[in-house]
Amino acid sequence: MKPTEKGRNKVISKVMRIYSIAVIVIFWACSPQADIEVNHLRCEFQENPFGIDVVQPFLSWEISGTPRGITQKAYHILVASSMEKLNHNEGDLWDSRMVNDDSSINVAYNGTSLKSRITCYWKVKVKTNHGESGWSQPAQWRMALVDKNDWQAQWIGLDKSFPGDVLKEKTRLAARYLRKEFKNEKKATKATLYISGLGLYEAFINGKRIGDQVLAPTPTDYSKSVKYNTFDITDFLAVGDNTIGVTLGNGRFFNMRTIEDNSYPPLPPTQNYGFPKMILQMEIDYDDGSRQTLVSDDSWKITADGPILANNEYDGEEYDARKEMPGWDNPGFNDTRWMPAELVEAPKGTLQAQLNANIKIMETLSPETVTEPKPGMYILDMGQNMVGWLSMKVKGKAGEKVKLRFAEVLNEDGTLYMANIRNALVTDIYTLKGEGEEYWEPSFVYHGFRYVEITGYPGIPTIDDFEGKVIYDEMETTGHFETSDNLINQIYKNAYWGIRGNYRGMPTDCPQRDERMAWLGDRATGSLGESFVFNNHNLYAKWLDDIEESQLENGSIPDVAPAYWKNYNDNMTWPAAYLIIADMLYNQYGDARPIVKHYESMKKWMKFMADNFMEDYIMPRDLYGDWCMPPESPEMIHSADPARKTDGTLLGTSFYYHMLRLLEKFAQLQDKNDESKQFSDQAILVKDAYNNRFFNKETAQYSNNTVTANLVSLCFNLVPEGYEEKVFENIVYKTQHDFNGHVSTGLVGIQWLMRGLSEYGRSDLAFQIATNRDYPSWGYMIERGATTIWELWNGDTGDPTMNSQNHVMLLGDLIVWFYEYLGAIQNAPGNCGFKKIEMHPYDVDGLTYVTASYHSTHGLIKSAWKKSEDSFEWNITVPANSKAVISIPAKDKKQITESGKKVSATQGIKFLRNETGRVVFEVGSGDYEFKVKLINTNFDRVRVLNYSAVSYLSVLDFK
Ligand code: BGC
Repeated sequence: MKPTEKGRNKVISKVMRIYSIAVIVIFWACSPQADIEVNHLRCEFQENPFGIDVVQPFLSWEISGTPRGITQKAYHILVASSMEKLNHNEGDLWDSRMVNDDSSINVAYNGTSLKSRITCYWKVKVKTNHGESGWSQPAQWRMALVDKNDWQAQWIGLDKSFPGDVLKEKTRLAARYLRKEFKNEKKATKATLYISGLGLYEAFINGKRIGDQVLAPTPTDYSKSVKYNTFDITDFLAVGDNTIGVTLGNGRFFNMRTIEDNSYPPLPPTQNYGFPKMILQMEIDYDDGSRQTLVSDDSWKITADGPILANNEYDGEEYDARKEMPGWDNPGFNDTRWMPAELVEAPKGTLQAQLNANIKIMETLSPETVTEPKPGMYILDMGQNMVGWLSMKVKGKAGEKVKLRFAEVLNEDGTLYMANIRNALVTDIYTLKGEGEEYWEPSFVYHGFRYVEITGYPGIPTIDDFEGKVIYDEMETTGHFETSDNLINQIYKNAYWGIRGNYRGMPTDCPQRDERMAWLGDRATGSLGESFVFNNHNLYAKWLDDIEESQLENGSIPDVAPAYWKNYNDNMTWPAAYLIIADMLYNQYGDARPIVKHYESMKKWMKFMADNFMEDYIMPRDLYGDWCMPPESPEMIHSADPARKTDGTLLGTSFYYHMLRLLEKFAQLQDKNDESKQFSDQAILVKDAYNNRFFNKETAQYSNNTVTANLVSLCFNLVPEGYEEKVFENIVYKTQHDFNGHVSTGLVGIQWLMRGLSEYGRSDLAFQIATNRDYPSWGYMIERGATTIWELWNGDTGDPTMNSQNHVMLLGDLIVWFYEYLGAIQNAPGNCGFKKIEMHPYDVDGLTYVTASYHSTHGLIKSAWKKSEDSFEWNITVPANSKAVISIPAKDKKQITESGKKVSATQGIKFLRNETGRVVFEVGSGDYEFKVKLINTNFDRVRVLNYSAVSYLSVLDFK
């Protein structure tokens, strides 16, 4: 039968349809799947780092695509020495070929050895279970000077004081200015600057500032290491005459205090490394392959007779605009009154390319109000306790002096409250040159402040004349956290300001008084909470180096590192941060290198402590106790009540035990099984001795039954089997009855409090502690006007001799609890780098929603739940190449839908098990929208103990 016209058309269109489907299928099967993409390439945890000296850098990337459950099967990395080569898929430095491996983070470069100065251009493609990606967009990293012989430059400066410098007590040093003119005959194809100016530098070429870093380079113990920065300065150079100028400030190189300050509390002098000095090397490459190298040497000129009359981190900066030297960093300036720079002794530390971020102005705040509590004295309120400085616009006569003084709190009469600033002068002085509108901000100091006192200002200052420059290490904000509770949100905001305000190339305790030191104890668990908020990997990896550098020959580790104060107290709790933070870097970022790098020095410290102080497996060394626990009366700093104070020997021994368990894990990670066994054997002996000495089996109490004593015992797995619940009951009883549902711990106990309470089924009590508004609590701080976190629970009434309003140590594990428990984003036990995520939302009465996100090394993780009377909705995002174990509050999986469909009917959602009040699934990457009808609202009270109970505590759970 002949087909009709209509029929024929139908057949043709059917054939065409089949054909086009076939074409699509063939195309899909044969070509890279357009949908799978590789992006966010990072080298050493940064995008396109410039000037690194790591010879086997870690490379990481993220994968994206619409299908759910994307896992990487293989990767192919190309690293080329030029963009052209990379474009031609020629990996002359490294062509990994397709490697059957599912790692998409921390893949170590494994190509030809990386030479100084080269730029490495790289890209990646991956094979996944959903097809292959195309090549990623290219990324790059630049090698700095890998070989110390690459340095031809010499350290220059003038090792002497200038008129006006004060070398004793509260030191004052004018900034040093260095300059050098040079010729650049041809157009440069590439020009690179390597520079370290100690303590701090600012560099200019032809009047233009190089880079947007401030207070650079990062601080170290300069007798051990010195960091330099690398810049691309190609665009700065003119053909013909050029000038490079560098200003040097003191930073931590020239000491802020020379003698012991015997006011209370007595403070040691700060370490002195000498007068400011600089090393600089500029390499200019030309088309014809030639290179001009310009170095710091004695052909440079120097003066200290410029506008920065004095700078001291504690005391402030003094600037006289009349002494400005217009054109000093441009060619043609008359420098006949300058002196020749001298070759000076190099700092003892080795020169290293700085990997951690420099400080930058990260935000600008406008003041909220200006008041005049006394005639001619104006007070600016920034509305926020911030760290940085004030920039100022001013008009007046030459010689008029404006004085700015900084404080965190006001007296009742509206003037500055200075008592808690102690002996820091915190004063910037600007002398006008009298030429129209002048603009000024300091170069080499910063302050911690909310209020600024302005005196000597010509005319009446308005808020428009000033800006607050907020500074901290340039690091990406990786976390977002919000709940239905405004107080929790405000606490988070205060913490955010406090954490970033105390990042200065090292995590400092406070930014305002004559201290500003990187105290080890303050950041142990804190570093973990912070790692959700900021990409702090490189900062903390650097800090571990600082700690190792501060270790004495005999193994002793101080409480402050870099050791600008020599606090070698042989204390257990503070130096423990060394191991705890190495563990954090491994867990959060999947980077085991810090563990491997510092393992020997960690062991040395532990051996030193054991050899010198341990008796019958008891470690008595403790100096600070449970530092800054809420005292019995409001004006005190430290409690004098023996019933409140936790036994130091208990703290010393429990921490020693915890460290042994960490070393056991660290040894196992490196396949050092014998050593691991030795640590484990020792740990068992310490545990026995500990329980014999401190545990009362009748009462299930440790020592004098403080919350901290019981909590650390429980959280470090020291409690004899079968007694955990009873010990926990003591924690709850004490908290509820003796402290009326309030925190009773200081810096030590607070690090495990919120998680400990939640793991044992009392997240309701944790929530109560988190949302209390009366003393002692974070809410109390906020009720009393805090915009950051205080050093003391009673920071409004406590003795001002140690009472900072911007300290983060009392946050303990609060931020960890926010993200891991309320937000439900944590590494699954035994995993690292979020390859497998555990998502277990801790619902608590009082919260109706929590929205959390965290940009992990594998990619963005999101978790947003909300609940009503009869439903629980939970939207989650799991990044590609990782998966999540999710625990949904429901009695039965039948109650649960995902994107409107029954969960059991949805592919890729694997049912794992039922738990009391929970249904547990495993999901691959992708976005999910779960909804549960009618839930058991108390689901969290009954989190069963054996379900990953104390998972975070069991440090051996890592494989
Ligand atoms: C610091 C604390 C530190 C403590 C230890 C204080 O002055 O500010 O953060 O941990 O001393 O002694």
